[in-house]
Amino acid sequence: MAFRRTGRQAALLSGCGLLLSGCSQALSPLAPGGPAASAVADLIWLLFWLGGAVFIVVSGLLAYAIWHRRQTEEPNPSAVAPADAGVGSRFVLIGGAVLPGLILLVVWAVSLQTMRAVPQPSGQEPLQIQVIGHQWWWEVAYPRKGFISANEIHIPAGQPVEIVLTSADVIHSFWIPRLHGIVDMIPGDENRLQITADEPGVYRGECTEYCGLQHAKMMFVLVALPPQEFDAWLARQQQPAPPPQTASQQQGQNLYFAKGCDECHAIAGTAASGRLGPDLTHIASRRTLAAGWIDNNRENLGDWILNPHTIKSGVLMPANDYSEAELQALLDYLSLLE
Ligand code: CUA
Repeated sequence: MAFRRTGRQAALLSGCGLLLSGCSQALSPLAPGGPAASAVADLIWLLFWLGGAVFIVVSGLLAYAIWHRRQTEEPNPSAVAPADAGVGSRFVLIGGAVLPGLILLVVWAVSLQTMRAVPQPSGQEPLQIQVIGHQWWWEVAYPRKGFISANEIHIPAGQPVEIVLTSADVIHSFWIPRLHGIVDMIPGDENRLQITADEPGVYRGECTEYCGLQHAKMMFVLVALPPQEFDAWLARQQQPAPPPQTASQQQGQNLYFAKGCDECHAIAGTAASGRLGPDLTHIASRRTLAAGWIDNNRENLGDWILNPHTIKSGVLMPANDYSEAELQALLDYLSLLE
C-alpha cells in the first residue's frame, strides 16, 4: 500500500475520494476482513437485493401503467366501475402499505441482529486499546501495556481486541471499513467496540465525522500481525527511547529540548512529557506522518518539522526555524527512535 502522495495526487484523491473508495478494496466494507465487517457486508447485500427487487417491480408497474394508459382512448376518470375501484384500493393497501411494511420489518429485524453481532462479546479478556481523537490525529494507548503511540494501531490477527474510543476536542468518528461499522468518538464519553482481523494485513481507517478543516486528512492504519510478531512489536514499543549514540544525535536531542519540541511531544526515557501532540518514543517505526497523510521518511519529516502548515493547514504544530545543519541533527536523533 503506497501512502506517498504528491500535491497533484493529493488533490486528485480528495476530489475523487468517494469514487476511489468505491473502487479500492482497502476501504471497502464489501471486502470484510473480520466477523463484524462480514455481518455488516451481509446487511449491505440484503439491502441491495431487496432494494433492487422493489425497484424492478415498481419500474414494471410504472411501465405497465404508461402502456395501459396509451391503449385507452379518451380516459374518463369518473367512468371507473365500482368493482375496479375495489380492486384498486386493495392493490393500494397491499402494495402501498402491507408489502412495504413487511419488507421494512425484515430489514429492521436483520439490522438489529447485525448490531448484536458486531460487538461479538467473547469469554476471554481481550487486549484493550484506547484511541483518542484529536484535531487531526489519533492517540493510540495500550493502557495495560504501559505505552502510547499515534496514528497506527497494531493488533494480533485472529484475536478479538477491545477498542475504547473517546475524543480530546470535537466529535470524531472511527471507521475501518474492512473490519467494523462506524463508531463515534465523543468528548467526555467512551464508546467501545470489539474487532477481530481474521488475517494479518494492513487495514486503512478514516475519520468519518466532519471535525474541522483537515477532517479529510485524518486517517490511520491498523496493522494486524501474526501473534508472535505482535508480541515482538509490543516488547519493542514498551522499551523507552535509547540515549543518543552519536554527536549529531546528541545535538539533535539538545535541540529537541532547546526548541521546545518536548512541551508537546513526549519521548519515554527522557524528560519530554508533552501530551498535546503525538508521542514520539517510536516515531521512526511508524509508517506515516500527519495521520496517514504522508509517508514517514526523512525528507517528509524534515518538511513537516519546518512547515507543517503547507502539508496540513491549521494543525496545532507551529512552523519551526532550523538551520540545515540543525535540522539534520534533529532528524538524526529522531531516526534513532525506532
Ligand atoms: Cu476527525 Cu473528522
